[in-house]
Order: sequence, then C-alpha cells, then structure tokens
Amino acid sequence: MELIPLGPGFAAEVRGTGLRDVAASDEIYNAVRAAFEEHSVLLFRDQQVTDELQIAFSRKFGPLETAKAASRGEGTPFSILTNVEPDGSLVPPGHKEELRARANQLWHTDSCFKVPPALTSILSGRTVAATGGETEFVSMRLAWERLPADTRRVLDDACAWHDYAHSRGKIAAHLASERERTAMPPVSWRMRWRNPVNGRDALYIASHTCGIEGMARDAALKLIDELMADATQPAYIYQHRWQPGDVIMWDNRATMHRGRPWPLDEPRHMVRTTVSARDADGLATMWPQRTAA
Ligand code: OGA
Ligand code: MN
Repeated sequence: MELIPLGPGFAAEVRGTGLRDVAASDEIYNAVRAAFEEHSVLLFRDQQVTDELQIAFSRKFGPLETAKAASRGEGTPFSILTNVEPDGSLVPPGHKEELRARANQLWHTDSCFKVPPALTSILSGRTVAATGGETEFVSMRLAWERLPADTRRVLDDACAWHDYAHSRGKIAAHLASERERTAMPPVSWRMRWRNPVNGRDALYIASHTCGIEGMARDAALKLIDELMADATQPAYIYQHRWQPGDVIMWDNRATMHRGRPWPLDEPRHMVRTTVSARDADGLATMWPQRTAA
C-alpha cells in the first residue's frame, strides 16, 4: 500500500489496495484505518463499486447509519445525492433535490445533528459531472491548531448546538420539513473532538451549527462565522475533481467538506454510506450530549 499526499497538510490517495481488499482482510483494513486516522481524507481510484461492495467496505469501520428522514434512500444505508430521477430523467430547476444540492454546497461535516454523529462518510461517484461538481475538503485539525491559544482555551470546554433545519434554512425557509425537524431535533456536542489514536484535536463545527451553550445567540453566530471563515480559506482547501471509479472517505470528526455546483442539465449521481461514531472513536469525550427539549 502506498499513500500519495493530495491536500495542504492532509488527504492522501491510497494506491496498491482497494475497497475489495479492505472488505476481505483485517490486516489491510488496519493499514487503511491507520491511514484514515492520520490523513483524514482518503481517495481510492478505479474502483468497481457496487452497493454490496460499498456496504462491505464501510461496515469494517463501524455500524452504518440509515439515511435520514425524507431523504432519497430513507431507511436504507445509502444517502443518494443526485439530480437523476429513478426513470433516468433529470430533476427540473427548483426541485427539492436541487435545493438540497445547494445546501450541500455549504461547508459542513455530516451528521453532527444526529445521535450518535458520524465517524466517516464514504462517497462513490457513480455518475460524475463532466464540468464542476467537485467536492472540497478542509482539515479541522489544522483549523484548530491555527487558532490563537486564548480562543482554543475558550473552545476547549465549550459545547455547540447543531441543527439540520438551521443549515437548510440558509437555502430556503421550509427546506427542512416538519417531519425532518421532528426526527432531528437540535443536539449539542463539544466543539473540540480529540482523536483517540494520535491525540490531535479538531474543531467540530459545520453549517448546521446554530449556537454555543452559555453564549448569546448573536455573539455565538458571529464567532461561528469567524471560525468557519478561517477554516475554509482557499489555501487550506483540497479540491477533488471526480473521475469515474473514484471513492472518497473522510473523517467527519476532523474535516469539513462541501459540494460544488455543476450544470444541472448534466447528470451527477453519488452514493454515500455513513459510519456512526462509537466511544472508541473519541465519542465518549464529546459528552455530555444534550438534545433540545
Ligand atoms: C456528502 C456531500 C458533496 C458532494 O456526500 O455528504 O456533502 O460533492 N457531498 O456531493
Ligand atoms: Mn456531506
């Protein structure tokens, strides 16, 4: 197995092994898992992905989430990000999937609004856009390490609220339906996620982050905006341009990502599996966790 660095201080391409080997061998899984803990984003190229293979690979990392309420793939392990209807036609402009794609273009980490949140997401490009449609990543470890020491001290024990409806509200007032709001009430986690393998801290915020416990709402939103702006400066981004057969996995504890726009008269069909975090992934240190009454 060989690792080729991709991004500014994080992200690597894995060569010499692939999803099938990881699914079949604990030894190869352990090597890839170690690379994941170290590099936060891993790219596998030229994979012959099927739903079954994606599941078998993903399961090595932990229990799978089921796709959230009212999403494509609800109740299955697959989150489907697509502008292609089941009959092959493309969704019309203004369609809910288009608004969802726009919400995905806000910097975020997956499932911080869920209990438990996500360890890793595995995204396979089944039909990749010919133009645009890149996925961009930043390291929230490097973001944490850049913070002034006094800010780090404040954030060290702070907890922030995450709400799916908050990020959707930035795109359209009613994009999160009543059913989604009921299924996913706001949840609070610590703002620093310490990696249990290497001890490195990461700043845990996203487009879903809507407040900080014990801080006035306006002041909290201002601080979150500043933290987001610092974390996502162009020099810190790894931009991934998709090729057919690409699979990317990222560490939701230690990165943020966003999709980029593409011409909506071109098909783009991506399939994601998401692995829940467990205590051994450092989740135990993210408690006490609270949900809104
Ligand atoms: C995701 C996501 C962005 C993209 O799969 O969680 O945010 O580029 N994807 O499709
Ligand atoms: Mn995402």
